[in-house]
Amino acid sequence: MINLVDYYQKHPGQLAACMGQCSAAFQAALENHHHGLTPEACDFYHTIETRDGIYQGDWDLRGHEDEYLGHQVFEGRRVVELGPASGWLSAYMARRAADLVVFDLPFGAGPELVPHPDADMDQVTASGIRSVTRLRNSWWFTKRALGFRATAVYGDIYNPPADIGRFDIAVFGAILLHLSNPFRALQQIAEITSETIVVTDVHSASVAAGMPTAVAFNPTPPPNGHVHWWALSPSVVVHMLALCGFTDAVVTHHTPERMSERPPMFTVVARRRAKLLSGTQRQSM
Ligand SMILES: C[S@@+](CC[C@H](N)C(=O)[O-])C[C@H]1O[C@@H](n2cnc3c(N)ncnc32)[C@H](O)[C@@H]1O
Repeated sequence: MINLVDYYQKHPGQLAACMGQCSAAFQAALENHHHGLTPEACDFYHTIETRDGIYQGDWDLRGHEDEYLGHQVFEGRRVVELGPASGWLSAYMARRAADLVVFDLPFGAGPELVPHPDADMDQVTASGIRSVTRLRNSWWFTKRALGFRATAVYGDIYNPPADIGRFDIAVFGAILLHLSNPFRALQQIAEITSETIVVTDVHSASVAAGMPTAVAFNPTPPPNGHVHWWALSPSVVVHMLALCGFTDAVVTHHTPERMSERPPMFTVVARRRAKLLSGTQRQSM
């Protein structure tokens, strides 16, 4: 029997291999660990609609999935979803894709925190770990309630496990803003993505009003500011993706209709640029 708590303590996110996390036995251990969860053990980020009821989250993306994900064709593709939260989008993609892998923070880890000198950072850290655990619970609750197929891998986004394999499509939904180094994360995942990268993020008013290529650092005060590293403009995301070899970017603007706050969102879809052949290679063809 795989002891998950032990596993993630002994193999923290820094490990360069997922050490068999994708195996059926490991996935069964994860499933077993989260078996019998009640909604009370979960923090729902997404609103989750099941046959038994609706679990209200802050983000209600029902009916908005296709726009949120940049109108991708997932059929037949191997997809990685970075930061799946409560899994409403995982369910949508899993029903279409050939194979969906979700990647999130490991057991015992919290989000990267923006330090604030006046905050009790020990307390903020403990509360972050608790939230991540309850969020991960919600993903497993959703998976069971909706009955979709996906593989869950937990690790370090800056050092993704070597044995996770390659993907056709990578989806970064509202995660770059939570990372101290969003470019590094994009770059790492770009290396294992063959076709398309989708980035969806909140269109911050302060950034939109400024220069089109603006970035705002830690634009929100605590407590939300502890996990809000950046507000990125669409052009900055397009630029980052181009440097990772993903070009022909298409930017769309949208808002989830079911949410009364109508948060302004943008989605960038970029495709892997075909490798340019050198002069000698072209002549020899
Ligand atoms: C705001 S939620 C986004 C949910 C979903 N992708 C969407 O777009 O609706 C952020 C997600 O990123 C994950 N996350 C945050 N920091 C992370 C990190 N350093 N490594 C991996 N996942 C991280 C969180 O645990 C959570 O699942």
